[in-house]
Amino acid sequence: MAIYFDVKTKTFYLESKNLTYAFCVDQAGFLNHLYFGKRIAREELGFSVHSVDRGHGAYPPDFGRDHSLSIFLNECPTYGRSDYRESMLAFDFDGVRVGDLVYDGYTVYETKPLLSGMPSVRGGETLAVSLKDVLHGARVVLYYTVFEELPVILRHAEVVNESDEAFMLDRAYSFCLDFPDKNWETVTLHGAHLRERFMERTSLSHGVFSVDSKRGVSSAQMNPFMAIVRKNTDEETGEAYGFNLVYSGDFTFKAQIEQDDSLRVLGGLNDYDFSWLLKAGEKFVTPEAVMVYSENGLGDMSRSFHDLYRTYLINPRFVNASRPIVINNWEATYMNFDTQKLCEIVDSVRGTGIDTFVLDDGWFGARNTDKAGLGDWVVNEKKVDLKKVIDYTHKNGLKFGLWFEPEMVNKDSELYRAHPDWAIHADGLEPCLGRDQLVLDLTRDEVRQYVIDSVSAILNAYEIDYVKWDMNRPLTDNYSAWLKKQGKEFHHRYVLGLYQLCEALVNGFPSVFFEGCASGGCRFDPAMLYYFPQIWTSDDTDAYMRTFIQYGTSLCYPLSAHSCHVSVCPNHQCGRVTPFASRGHVAHLGATGYELDTAKMTQEELQEVKKQVEEYKAMEALVLHGDLYRLNDPAKENLFAEMLVSKDKTNAHLTVFRPFAVPNGPAIRVYPRGLKDDATYYIPELDLTRTGATLMRVGLLVCLNWEDFASATYRFIEK
Ligand code: GLA
Repeated sequence: MAIYFDVKTKTFYLESKNLTYAFCVDQAGFLNHLYFGKRIAREELGFSVHSVDRGHGAYPPDFGRDHSLSIFLNECPTYGRSDYRESMLAFDFDGVRVGDLVYDGYTVYETKPLLSGMPSVRGGETLAVSLKDVLHGARVVLYYTVFEELPVILRHAEVVNESDEAFMLDRAYSFCLDFPDKNWETVTLHGAHLRERFMERTSLSHGVFSVDSKRGVSSAQMNPFMAIVRKNTDEETGEAYGFNLVYSGDFTFKAQIEQDDSLRVLGGLNDYDFSWLLKAGEKFVTPEAVMVYSENGLGDMSRSFHDLYRTYLINPRFVNASRPIVINNWEATYMNFDTQKLCEIVDSVRGTGIDTFVLDDGWFGARNTDKAGLGDWVVNEKKVDLKKVIDYTHKNGLKFGLWFEPEMVNKDSELYRAHPDWAIHADGLEPCLGRDQLVLDLTRDEVRQYVIDSVSAILNAYEIDYVKWDMNRPLTDNYSAWLKKQGKEFHHRYVLGLYQLCEALVNGFPSVFFEGCASGGCRFDPAMLYYFPQIWTSDDTDAYMRTFIQYGTSLCYPLSAHSCHVSVCPNHQCGRVTPFASRGHVAHLGATGYELDTAKMTQEELQEVKKQVEEYKAMEALVLHGDLYRLNDPAKENLFAEMLVSKDKTNAHLTVFRPFAVPNGPAIRVYPRGLKDDATYYIPELDLTRTGATLMRVGLLVCLNWEDFASATYRFIEK
């Protein structure tokens, strides 16, 4: 049992092997947060509650002058009753915006009830604590899930309208977590298309630090991830709390330091353009927040996220299975291909170990440029004989994958001509374009049904093993006429509609492997990972840029979720030329594949591909199940080095990438991590046998003295 309630002190303790989370019910029925961190004894914690009469403050009538809610650590703060910090929930009861949510019992579930309408992490013993605003008939149920073996707490909330009147929810975050001191910094993942998830560290000052997305997607500009870390926290040491939202739309995370130097962290659905009408008897469910604690730096935090997502989030059918090693035709041909060209690509990879051919954009409707065809999921038979390509692929022993962009429509399409109103728009306004396309209004049943039917028709008619689900523009013009005055529900309803599509198509075709994509990594989040075991990490395939992108992405997402391809040079995104071997080494730190014209490669080059695929296969188990150690941060050093270590520590793989050659430069010494001190390891590349302790403390001298963007790999095999 991991959840305890001490009746005398009215304290809840959530415990896992290395973690305690504690809060109590105070004398007026508010939930007072007590502790979240390394496992401690189950003792009375009331002594830590700070009570003081602060000047120019206020307090609820049942409290004394030294009991203002504004200085309590609060599990579920609301607005207007003396807590002046950011609130977790905000209500509007027909104009009245204040109320008291007080304790009204709890339930413990052996396994977490799944969230309705939204993906979430599976399993874990779960506490549901009920709060009730008696005056207005609002019930809030706070859910806390704990896993015995992982330092993780999951949180989400349900708001239920138990009155006879409708009320509005103006804010519905997933969690609030208060810390007693302010000595923290944030770590966030900012970026842009082609530069996704760059790690950034920010000092906090008094006031509110906030990150968000308003783009209708979880976004490349800011990932739904935030960590708070001690100033001295690094990869290996210091405390870190990581927060990640299982959600694919507009989100926000906030960190606020107030007058008493405490820190409040909150996160959930972005309330920037949000409100929700909750009618009598209805329930609103917030997305799930994942909270990971590490006392040993960002490295341990990441490994806990990876273990959690691999064990409890990603589709169990695929998570541990060998991933397809694809040859994708996008950078080889773009939309300019025919049946013969595609068969030539399939021919060329025979014998290389590549096992899946993916036909990307351009096979349907009038899709010969990106200005036309989206929405028309009908094979363009004038251009390609799809059945022939699929049969040819299968005959050659490869699986076949196909690209879709189910959420979109071009104005120049049969779909738009038939149903112009199906694109998201506000009446009287021409909607904004993105890549010459519009977004389908997934809040509408008939629109979702059309997408399900038309995509299913292709998946039923052809033998398709793999689908790349793309999404190439953010949302604008957020409105749907049927919502009338409830327009602020649009963005969340769009995301719920998207999940319904995913449920129908991913569950409807359970043997098809779905890869996620949004112009590369513009929608890379845990909710997408629930449906798609891997996501195209970035349209940027340049090996050097990928070291930054994959480094940041690995902060919370396991390497098996990063789809990474070797592409041609000069690179199509930035013109950089990097060695073929380095491109392979960097792409092997994820679900690897190829995206270039293999039909134009020489036999020697194809032999190189074969060698790379063999190398990848030899380390695939580490990519799928291993522990990641980030050794060198490319943003801080002229070096990127990552190590993957098997769970039993009997073998490991080290990748070193040195961006710029430095004539007569310093020696490059890399310190392996994660090995067993007293085990002896053989490194074939160096013909060297030493103990783990020696290797980790003395370090390896890496010879990369010539040429920019050089790389090397080393295997560690326990003797
Ligand atoms: C996006 C994807 C690419 C490719 C193109 C096709 O940019 O990220 O990989 O599929 O769309 O239009």
